[in-house]
Amino acid sequence: MRYVVVVVVLFMISLVVLGSSDALAPTVSYEWVVSYSQRSILGANKQIIVINDMFPGPILSATAGDIVNVNIFNHLTEPFLMTWNGLQMRKNSWQDGVLGTNCPILPGTNWTYRFQIKDQIGSYFYFPSLLLQKAAGGYGSIRVYSPELVPVPFPRPDGEFDILIGDWFYTDHRDMRAALDNGLSLANPDGIIINGRGPEEAFFAFQPGKTYRLRISNVGLKSSLNFRIQDHDMLLVETEGSYVQKHTYSNLDIHVGQSYSVLVTAKTDPIGIYRSYYIFASTRFTNFYMSGLALIRYPNSPIDPVGPVPSAPGSWDYASSVRQALSIREDLAVGAARPNPQGSYHYGRVIVNRTLIFQNDVMLSSNKLRYTINGVSFVFPETPLKLVDHFQLNNTIIPNMFPVYPSNKLASLGTSVVDIRYKDFVHIVFENPIYDMQSWHIDGYNFFVVGMGFGAWSESKGAGYNLVDAVSRSTIQVYPYSWVAILIAMDNQGMWNVRSQKAEQWYLGQELYLRVKGEGQEDPRNIPVRDESPIPDNFLRCGRVT
Ligand SMILES: *[C@@H]1O[C@H](CO)[C@@H](O)[C@H](O)[C@H]1NC(C)=O
Ligand SMILES: *[C@@H]1O[C@H](CO)[C@@H](O)[C@H](O)[C@H]1NC(C)=O
Ligand SMILES: *[C@@H]1O[C@H](CO)[C@@H](O)[C@H](O)[C@H]1NC(C)=O
Repeated sequence: MRYVVVVVVLFMISLVVLGSSDALAPTVSYEWVVSYSQRSILGANKQIIVINDMFPGPILSATAGDIVNVNIFNHLTEPFLMTWNGLQMRKNSWQDGVLGTNCPILPGTNWTYRFQIKDQIGSYFYFPSLLLQKAAGGYGSIRVYSPELVPVPFPRPDGEFDILIGDWFYTDHRDMRAALDNGLSLANPDGIIINGRGPEEAFFAFQPGKTYRLRISNVGLKSSLNFRIQDHDMLLVETEGSYVQKHTYSNLDIHVGQSYSVLVTAKTDPIGIYRSYYIFASTRFTNFYMSGLALIRYPNSPIDPVGPVPSAPGSWDYASSVRQALSIREDLAVGAARPNPQGSYHYGRVIVNRTLIFQNDVMLSSNKLRYTINGVSFVFPETPLKLVDHFQLNNTIIPNMFPVYPSNKLASLGTSVVDIRYKDFVHIVFENPIYDMQSWHIDGYNFFVVGMGFGAWSESKGAGYNLVDAVSRSTIQVYPYSWVAILIAMDNQGMWNVRSQKAEQWYLGQELYLRVKGEGQEDPRNIPVRDESPIPDNFLRCGRVT
């Protein structure tokens, strides 16, 4: 067996101070070379995607307020875009790295993302957004630290570890993509990896008595995972930028695209510190069972853990999972990256301007599997929507084409854009009427998860909403035959991707865009919207923008 130390490499090249309009905001700059590499993962060779020769890629680390430059060199043979799962890109969807907002970075070229991280702290991750490249890796962790003077509601941990868990497929991502293009569904994964490594290949070195922050994200394609550590409890402190009420968990469900921070305190007792411990990430709500395995080691511990392994919760036990989800609530006493406590923002008292219902389903198009929202499966126009608006390329976005409620119309292909008035307060219900776990994400925003239940949603469910301390996050799971209700303050202008985090569903059309526009900007041609970042001077051209 091979043991590989998981080294946390900070690829921070420079820290300079700018003196322009972003007065004195520090800049962190990265240069990332994205390339293929032949690696053995779970014992099988595969051409994977590495960043600066690393898999997972380097940690992107910044402090709220920083300007971040990431210069990406595409050494693949395919177009490439990186997206920043959970970073809000305030008023700057130009940098979001999805095909609705950016032209791809072509092979052999480089492009620099430039954005400021505002009013957010926490744990996130980045991943390639095009062509199912995520199946080949190319992902990494993002840490956003609190600025000095903004209080953090727990003592500074003695160390931090980033733990990326996810399902892994032996098949080349291009062959997987071809299978989806030909109308097939993704096969079951071949295993679960932790930080790109197979069973017991990754380990985390603990010192007796120290407390560690573990930033855990599910970066896989389809599998919900249950995360647990042998004989160590986890104190949940943060999820996707929100400090949460501190509860201790022996295991945590982490669905595709979600991120959590937990504090784990190392053993001090003389027997405890002479042992090693298992970290498990095992599939849940899937018709197969697989687990990924890593280790915690102490300075003098023997290599192999002993004793009973932490048992998995019942694979199909939805009730316990829902209970856990509902126990994750905002800590109202603290204010995330803002100096004023979040509790002073009473989201439950804001009048809702609009309700949208997004129902996921499947369809066949020319006998091929597609995934839909309200009966529409997304297809990309030849030009990114953001550029279509900017250059007034008429006849691409058909206003009001997309039904914002489920309808009985025949399922179809379309380019779904929902126009939202800037500063509206919107209620969105995600309905999942099929027997499959769903995971929804909205770029550019965090939202309050106010309700969750089995069966069909109806107006009357509003009476049971949590209007006090619902957690604010950017990815939420929806259980089979269930619904989730969110409230969202539309205070971020731009073109924002709403997607299934499940790679197959996303690749086959389960997404849409929210176009959030300012007052007096109802006419899409009256853009750019006031206060929104102007088009970057290095913007890429493609499609009808030549
Ligand atoms: C490509 O990289 C070079 C060298 O680092 C840099 O000067 C240039 O600005 C980059 N191009 C883009 C479009 O970001
Ligand atoms: C949303 O509703 C509130 C309360 O009715 C109203 O004050 C506000 O103007 C509405 N928002 C917009 C953008 O019209
Ligand atoms: C789009 O339509 C507007 C209004 O009719 C017109 O002013 C503009 O020139 C058109 N743009 C293009 C690229 O045709």
